[in-house]
Amino acid sequence: MKHSRITGTGSYLPDRIMTNAELEARVETSDTWIRDRTGIAERRIVADDETCADLAVAAASQALDMAGILAADVDLLVLATCTPDRVFPSTACLVQHRLGMREGSIAFDISAACSGFVYGLDIANRFLMTGGAKRALIIGAEAFSRIIDWDDRATCVLFGDGAGAVVLEPSEQPGILSTHLHADGQYEDLLKVDWGVGQGYDRLTPETGTVSMRGNEVFKVAVRTLGRIVDETLEANGLSKADIDWLVPHQANIRIIQATARKLGLPMERVVQTVQNHGNTSAASIPLALDTAVRDGRIRPGDLLLLEAFGGGFTWGSALIRY
Ligand code: ACO
Repeated sequence: MKHSRITGTGSYLPDRIMTNAELEARVETSDTWIRDRTGIAERRIVADDETCADLAVAAASQALDMAGILAADVDLLVLATCTPDRVFPSTACLVQHRLGMREGSIAFDISAACSGFVYGLDIANRFLMTGGAKRALIIGAEAFSRIIDWDDRATCVLFGDGAGAVVLEPSEQPGILSTHLHADGQYEDLLKVDWGVGQGYDRLTPETGTVSMRGNEVFKVAVRTLGRIVDETLEANGLSKADIDWLVPHQANIRIIQATARKLGLPMERVVQTVQNHGNTSAASIPLALDTAVRDGRIRPGDLLLLEAFGGGFTWGSALIRY
């Protein structure tokens, strides 16, 4: 039987660091509040001339290097973002060209907010399993600071910019064991960017082009939903909580991460936490965390990883991976 597995990881953070102290000077907040409620100490912000595609190219290049392959060897690029460079062409097409992938290879964006990377991994895995592609790049990249209202303390302290990427290749040994995706559009008003080309959204203004979130309500649904998806993932694989070596969660809020770890009975030393360094980077957050723990040697070949995400839509999903 054919399998697919991750053979390379990469990530990129813009140079500019925005500390909590800087936000204290901008809105009524405090370093203590931000750390206590979210775990975030600082976030990265794109340079004026930097875009989602730039972040994606940097992260993907690292992942290709680790896999020891060239961009020309990749025939599928899936890019998850909710901050694309333009409405179209897709950012994936821009990145495909800039990386030097072959003309005619497949490239497209997906929009699933913070769950985008897990959605992308599921899609790419299915392409590989059905012979639709031989090697895939999955990238999560966000220039999220561009859709932040910097006067809204309820959101501006939470988010940051960055990118993460993985290379997926065919393998004799199992790598991606299962993926689980879900969505529920009834919560559209709890977390949104009210700009689009639908009726009433025909102008991009500072008011419509930024994130609004009813954080406390999102928090409750996120904790409940992520608890359920942990059970679903373990049951689908006939595994128990004790089998998990590493939880690699979406990095939105340390308290949501702690709640999922408690549900798994995992000590926090077995949870990859990077939210303190870059805030919520939406679709980039899981591959960023994964790459961090692979490169610092915590995640080792053979380890069993549970990836989980929750985000706007709402969307949520998980992946169980033998690394
Ligand atoms: N600084 C200081 N005080 C603040 C700030 C701030 N930055 N923001 C809110 N407050 C105040 C509120 O006004 C409120 O004050 P009040 O009690 O006088 O009314 C108080 O702090 C508590 O507010 P809550 O919203 O109840 O705070 P909570 O503990 O829920 O933390 C947070 C807020 C961090 C946003 C949390 O709810 C959260 O993390 N939510 C989930 C975010 C998430 O996971 N989103 C999904 C992914 S994002 C995506 O898909 C793009």
